[in-house]
Formats: sequence, structure tokens, C-alpha cells
Amino acid sequence: MAVSTEVDIVVIGAGAAGLMCAATAAYQGHRVLLLDHANKAGKKILMSGGGRCNFTNLNTTPEHFVSANPHFCKSALKRYSPWHFVELVERHGIEHVEKAAGQLFCAESSKDILGILLTECDWAGAEISLKTQIRRVERAGQGFVLTTSAGVIRCAKLVVACGGLSIPTMGASGFGYQLAEQFGLSVLPTRAGLVPFTLQPDDKAWLSALSGISTEVVAEAGGTHFAEPMLITHRGLSGPAMLQVSSFWAPGQPVTVDWLPGVAHPFADLVAERNQHPNRGMERWLRQYFSQRLAGALVERFGWQGNLQQFSNERLSGLAATLKGWQFKPSGTEGYRTAEVTLGGVDTDAISSKTFEVNTVPGLHFIGEVLDVTGQLGGFNFQWAWASGWCTGLAL
Ligand code: FDA
Repeated sequence: MAVSTEVDIVVIGAGAAGLMCAATAAYQGHRVLLLDHANKAGKKILMSGGGRCNFTNLNTTPEHFVSANPHFCKSALKRYSPWHFVELVERHGIEHVEKAAGQLFCAESSKDILGILLTECDWAGAEISLKTQIRRVERAGQGFVLTTSAGVIRCAKLVVACGGLSIPTMGASGFGYQLAEQFGLSVLPTRAGLVPFTLQPDDKAWLSALSGISTEVVAEAGGTHFAEPMLITHRGLSGPAMLQVSSFWAPGQPVTVDWLPGVAHPFADLVAERNQHPNRGMERWLRQYFSQRLAGALVERFGWQGNLQQFSNERLSGLAATLKGWQFKPSGTEGYRTAEVTLGGVDTDAISSKTFEVNTVPGLHFIGEVLDVTGQLGGFNFQWAWASGWCTGLAL
């Protein structure tokens, strides 16, 4: 790249949203330059979905997103649906598989998704400049001037696709938020989402010994619940159930776990069991639903030793209530180090939901995760990146 460059459009951030936007805009005939400070484009795509990238969810609806303005995501999600991305994937001959309902993954590797986007950028003629530090962004007339480690770049339109704060080692930074504030936009408080919980010492003491065990639960926080597996780790509680509710949890609040989601009336079942097998222990009953290690640990933790005949109705009722609604107060979360997403971000109130342009700064656009739009687990975040990137690319 020359020391002084002039292009139609600069996109900052060669992640999911930026790559989609750059290719779409370049296909419109614009000269597009995509800048990233990282040494590789799309690092999060590569590490996503356990290396197989859960690239969309066929059941995507606006209800799968958390935002101060729940209506903002509707237009883009409607215009660029999961089927549009599936069509792109199939056009490139990439095999995919549906894991849980609607969740599409690459059959082989997430490299295939990044390959599609880089190929599209190449075919469309969008240029990518990696390892490029952006030192300053200024308004110049109707356009922008960027002072970068690769020289001064002038552009008519600027798209900010810097993502959120999660996984700093993958290139995440707060640069998009800084730019938003520089141009007078408000940034809603950010926090880690889709992130494992850490535990208070009491809970850590009994649970960390069970590290590696996964069990189906219904977990609830902030009034939203998910029926998914919960994974016990040596640091705390993780797995899809905990990641999902973490996005609805506020510090200081409890998380509720139904350990027996498939058992509608455990008290009645326990009374029947006591009548039939008074000499059996509680652990035997629990082993219908849990591994021996977990059943034993539950008995130990809650003091459920002894034969069933020693359990009064009141005690059985308390035991059933504990299993259906165990509450714990996390000490916190693992934070941005392991979080999949960042909640909060650039306030969408000042942005067009159709073109993603800032109402007060014509030519400036924000897309993807940097915005205050955060998807649940299951391919929704990439769908948001594709949809917001594509709609902006067309509007430029
Ligand atoms: P993204 O973070 O992808 O890209 C931002 C880009 O901006 C990066 O390339 C970064 O280097 C660059 N950048 C940042 N600061 C900069 C600066 N100052 N100057 C220049 N460039 C800068 N979602 C999903 O739907 N399915 C899944 O399977 C997964 N799995 C998953 C696993 C893990 C471990 C994580 C961390 C996340 C996921 N996600 C996911 C979430 C998904 O990866 C995320 O929502 C999207 O990548 C967001 O796309 P963006 O393009 O907005 O940001």
C-alpha cells in the first residue's frame, strides 16, 4: 500500500462482519480497503464452534438477541436470512451439518468459512491490509482521514467492524467504542457474555471435585431460562446452560438450576420409592438420573444419607425442592478472557437499522458485535455479523 492512499470505503476489522461488508461493497464496484491490526483475518471464525464454526442458526429470530432496543436487529435479519448464508456456503461447495436444531456447523473445519469470505473479497476486489495500526481517525469534509502504520488513508465512507472485547489475545480491542465516542455516540456499558461462572468458596469446594461431569439441566437467571447441558469445571460452572444464562445474569443475582428437568413431580416419585423400597438409600434413586460420582456428591453436600424410611414427607419435599430449584450466587464470571461475546456496546439509537449509518455523521457505519446487539449461543452471533455486514455493504 502506498504512503498516501485514497479509496471509496475503509472497513476497520477483518472479522466476520467486516469481511462480509467489504466483499458486498466491492461487488457494487467500490474501491474497498479492509484494515486489521491482527496478523490474520477472521481469527474468531477459526476458533469458533470448537474449530467447526457454528456459522448460522436456521431458527434465527429477533428474540435470540439481547439489546437495549430489541427492534433494531429486525430489519437486517429479515433482509439477510440464514438461508442466504447457507446458499453462499453451498455455492462454495462446503459441506455442513446440523447439530442441535437449526445450528449449522462446517462438516470439516471453520477454515472453510474464512476461506469463503477471503475468496469473496478477492473475487470482488476488496483489498485487505493486516498488521495495520490505526493511530487516528478524523473527519475531512464529507469523508475521513486515517493515520495508520501503513500511511495516511483517505476515504469517503468508513465502516467500523472492530468487534467486542472478548478474547483480547485474538485481537479484540475497545477501538470501536473509542471511535463511537469520538463521533459523539453513546456506548452502553459492556460486560462479558456467553461466559462460564466462577463460584463462591463453599460451592467451589464440592463442585470442583466433580470437574468434567456434564448433566442436562434447566438454568435460569434474570427471568430467562435454558434447557441445555451444564458442565462442571475446576474453575466453576460452564457448558451451554451456564453460557446462555450468563448473558442474562447481573452481578449479585442468583442462578437457579433444575437438576431434574425430566422429572415433573420428584416429591411424588420419592414418596412412591420410599413406600416400595424403604431400605434403599437416596443415592440409588439419584443414580437413575446422575452418574455415581455426582449422585454421591449431591448426597454428601446436602446431607441426604440414610435409608428412605428415615425421610419424613417434609424432608423429601425439601429434597425435591432443592433438586428442582438449587440456587447459587456466582462470585463472577471468567470475564473477557474466555467470553464468546461482549454485551452492550455502541448504542443503536443513533444508527439506521437499514444502512447502519450514524444519523449524525453521514458516511460512518457501525456493524457486527461492536453494536449493542448480542446473540444467544447457537450461531446467532455470526448470523448478525453476516446480516449487518451485508446490509451495510449494499447500502454504501
Ligand atoms: P470480530 O471479533 O470477528 O472481528 C473484529 C476484528 O476487528 C478482528 O479481526 C480484530 O482483530 C479487529 N480489530 C479490533 N480492534 C482493532 C483495531 N484497533 N484496529 C484494527 N483492527 C481491529 N458465534 C457464532 O455465531 N457461532 C460460533 O460458533 C461462535 N463461536 C465462538 C467461539 C469463541 C471462542 C468466541 C470468542 C466467539 C464465538 N462466536 C461464535 C462469536 C463470534 O465469533 C462473534 O460474535 C463474531 O466474530 C463477531 O464478528 P465481528 O466481525 O463483529 O467481530
